[in-house]
Parts: sequence; structure tokens; C-alpha cells
Amino acid sequence: MVRSKIAGIGYYVPERVVSNDELAGIMDTSDEWIQERTGIQQRRYGKKHEETTTTMAAEATRVACSRAGISPEDIDFIIFATLSPDYYFPGCGVLLQRELGITKKEAGALDIRNQCSGFLYALSIADQFVKTGVYKNVLVVGSEMHSMGLDFSTRGRNVTVIFGDGAGAAIVQPSDDPNRGILTTKLHSDGTYAEKLAFINPGAHGGYHLNKQGETFDFGYPPKDTFGEIFITDKMMADGNYYPNMEGQFVFKLAIQKFPEVIHEALNEVGLNPSDINMLIPHQANLRISQMVQRLLSLRDDQVWNNIQKFGNTTAASVPIALCEAWEAGKIKEGDLVCLAAFGSGFTWGSALIRW
Ligand code: COA
Repeated sequence: MVRSKIAGIGYYVPERVVSNDELAGIMDTSDEWIQERTGIQQRRYGKKHEETTTTMAAEATRVACSRAGISPEDIDFIIFATLSPDYYFPGCGVLLQRELGITKKEAGALDIRNQCSGFLYALSIADQFVKTGVYKNVLVVGSEMHSMGLDFSTRGRNVTVIFGDGAGAAIVQPSDDPNRGILTTKLHSDGTYAEKLAFINPGAHGGYHLNKQGETFDFGYPPKDTFGEIFITDKMMADGNYYPNMEGQFVFKLAIQKFPEVIHEALNEVGLNPSDINMLIPHQANLRISQMVQRLLSLRDDQVWNNIQKFGNTTAASVPIALCEAWEAGKIKEGDLVCLAAFGSGFTWGSALIRW
């Protein structure tokens, strides 16, 4: 079976830089608090009413295509990972196809809803399609427009200060060198704690059976025996219950366990060790998480790429943006062992090993 490889990669971040001090001007937070707990100094926000998750993805895709030496029309299949889609439905995959002007070919488009690990899931699917000979040019893209859906009051500060906007894209093609390309991908999930990091409303849950932890939620839905068409209720509006929520410390503890676990799993499969990694690209969740993972794997600073300081957490876009940035900086060379890893809402997590 032929291996697949990343033939071209690109990223796009909006122009507008939002500093911690700017956020401190609109909610009760501080540059010191944000930097100490997360490492984040600034993030980018897209231009409202001009840029969307899809338009940013299109920018990143054009760069990835040109670096892969193909035109967007050559794309055989689109895999789009995001938690901040332009529409509830249809998904961003088809919107990207239209934005790129490549509808004529009627190539398939798939949307991935796996949040922070979305790009890893997308890459793994692309890998399966390419190595089995089904497609030759698969576009894998992660893009997020978080700034449109965050709570900018002090109530939302634990979540809002972390996230930023941006997009990253990769073209996955068959590799002509059997020793180079994607060596393995590992994917996992555990829905037990789905609500610990979630954006629950609006949703079709109707307010019932939201989790198995014995917690009950009152979102002000009409009684069970009515046919309810209401998605956002007055109570949700009053409580501000239509924003993402996160139990930060719970997420942190699980993240520092699952990142090393899934990286070891991939390395074990191909008979390699953490010391063999030339560049680890961790999902940029929190600089403290990346530093802890680095320590647990005994990696040097030059073996790990972090850019959360500049871009915040861009969820599905963070791995391809960081990968692309590291590559552009000349830190990833032919033959290097690159490890991608992510953990996030679901919980879902995964890793990929690539001989570049
Ligand atoms: N500015 C100032 N104070 C803040 C704040 C902010 N932006 N956010 C929360 N606080 C306050 C809290 O209200 C709390 O105050 P209290 O002690 O008076 O109640 C205090 O800071 C500590 O809150 P806590 O949530 O326990 O802080 P933390 O040390 O766990 O840091 C996170 C919060 C979110 C930075 C941290 O838990 C984290 O990064 N977790 C992982 C999250 C993650 O990676 N998510 C991405 C998905 S992979």
C-alpha cells in the first residue's frame, strides 16, 4: 500500500491583533493573569461581516494548493474541521467548495465536528482515502471564527481569553517515497464528560438527559409533552447560557495525561521513541499544557513548536497553523520525524507521525 504525505500546507490568520490589555478593557481580566495561566499574549480576530470560517479556510487552502503544485480544481475530496461553522447546516465543506469556485467537479465534502482534535481526525481520514488509492488530492482544513461566538462579559472570561481566529490547510497526496509520509495516526474519544467542555445551546437536546452525571439543567424549554421548536429560550438569554463553557482544571488534568499517552501509542507502533521526534506540534490549548507534555516526554525546547503566545487557541486550526509556521521557519526538514497531537472537547484526542 502506498503511503500518503502532506504535499503542501498553508495558513491564514486575520490582520486584527487583539492584545490581553484590550480584553482587560472590556472584561475583568489582566495581561498578567492570562500570560501566567495560559502563555497567551495576543490573538487574532476576523473582520466581522467580511471574514468567516469559510473565507479564512479558502485563504489557507490557496496557499496549500500552490505549495503542493496543484490548483484548487484538482481537489478530489474536502475534509473540513471546525466547531465554529458559518451555518448550523450545511457545513463549511460545501461552502468552501463554492468559495473556491470548484463546484464543477462535484467532489465530495465532509465536515468534522471534533473540536481541538478535528484536524487530526481529518488528516487520518485523508490518509485512509489516499493510501487505499481512492483519491489523489485530499484537502484537509481546520478553521475557526471563535470571536463571533464568545461571551465578552466577565462571566465568560475563563473561556474567552483563550481563543483566537485562524485557519490552516494541507493537501494530502500519495507519496512517491515508501519511507516518507504519514507513518500512523491514532484516534480516541470518551464521551463520559462531554459537557465539561461544550457549547450546548442552541441544540436539539430539549433540555433533557444532558448528561449521565446526575446533573440537571433548566434552560427554560417548554414541557416535555409539547412539540417544541424553540432553540434559544428567554431563560438561556437571561442566564447567558448560549456560549461555550469549560471546566478548565478538569480539562487541563486530562489533557496532560492523554497527550503523552497517544504520542507514546503512535511511537510504539512504529518502533520509535520520544527522543526520535524532530518536531512535536501539539494542539495549542494552553502553553502550560504543552510545557508539561514536553517535560513528560523529556523533549528539548527545539523539539516542540508553540505559537499560542501569538494566536491563542484556534481549536481545529491550531495544529495546521503551527505545523505550517514551523515548516516556514525551516524547522521541519526532509526526513524529519514530525509528531502532531491534540486533545479537546468530547473528549476526543489523537496523534499522527509523519516522516517529512
Ligand atoms: N482573568 C482573570 N481571572 C480569571 C479569568 C480571567 N480570564 N478566568 C478565570 N479567572 C478566575 C476565576 O474566576 C477564579 O477566581 P476565584 O478563585 O475568585 O473563583 C480563578 O481565576 C481561578 O479560576 P480557574 O478556572 O480555577 O483557573 P485555572 O488556573 O484553572 O486557569 C484556565 C483557567 C482555563 C486557563 C485553565 O484551567 C486551562 O487552561 N485549562 C485547560 C483548558 C484548555 O486547554 N482548553 C482548551 C481545550 S483543549
